Amino acid sequence: MRVALLIHLLGSIIWIGGMFFAYVALRPAAARLLEPPQRLPLWRDTLGRFFVWVWISIAAIYASGFHMLAAAYGLKSSPPYVLTMFGIATVMTVIFMYIYFWPFKHLVRHVESSSWKEAGAALNSIRRLVAVNLLLGIATVVVAVTGGLLA
Ligand code: HEM
Repeated sequence: MRVALLIHLLGSIIWIGGMFFAYVALRPAAARLLEPPQRLPLWRDTLGRFFVWVWISIAAIYASGFHMLAAAYGLKSSPPYVLTMFGIATVMTVIFMYIYFWPFKHLVRHVESSSWKEAGAALNSIRRLVAVNLLLGIATVVVAVTGGLLA
């Protein structure tokens, strides 16, 4: 249970912390200092590397989450806060998959053909969706910790 919780928290920290860094620190700095031909390839590379870790984190979060669920409560009697955690995490996962298979693929393609306007538009959709996922991720941690205390 402790090892599963550790894996669960490491996965959450990597995913949510990575989004926080990208949104709050890298995004404004890159927008201020770099022109599109430098900025957009930087984002393609940065996100390409980060997204590999997001896939790994999602696998780790679900595997450890279901393991803890089965060990602590049994799969059929989970407390409401764990169901809420699972629900929000699933919405986050669907949003991430959409980002990965749609605007991110567009970003890669348009950066390769130096179509900066289109690449910028793809990055803009990624930015908005990452903001949503960041808020959902923070909400999940709040639900997980306060729900655990109240349960
Ligand atoms: C982004 C997604 C997720 C985040 C950020 C997250 C976060 C957390 C945190 C911070 C805890 C520790 C709570 C505490 O000990 O006070 C926790 C525990 C737990 N999580 Fe998640 N979680 C996520 C997704 C999931 C998923 C998909 C499941 C699958 C069912 C799940 C199942 C659990 C269970 C069973 C526990 C242990 C609850 C307990 O000990 O009562 N989590 N999670």
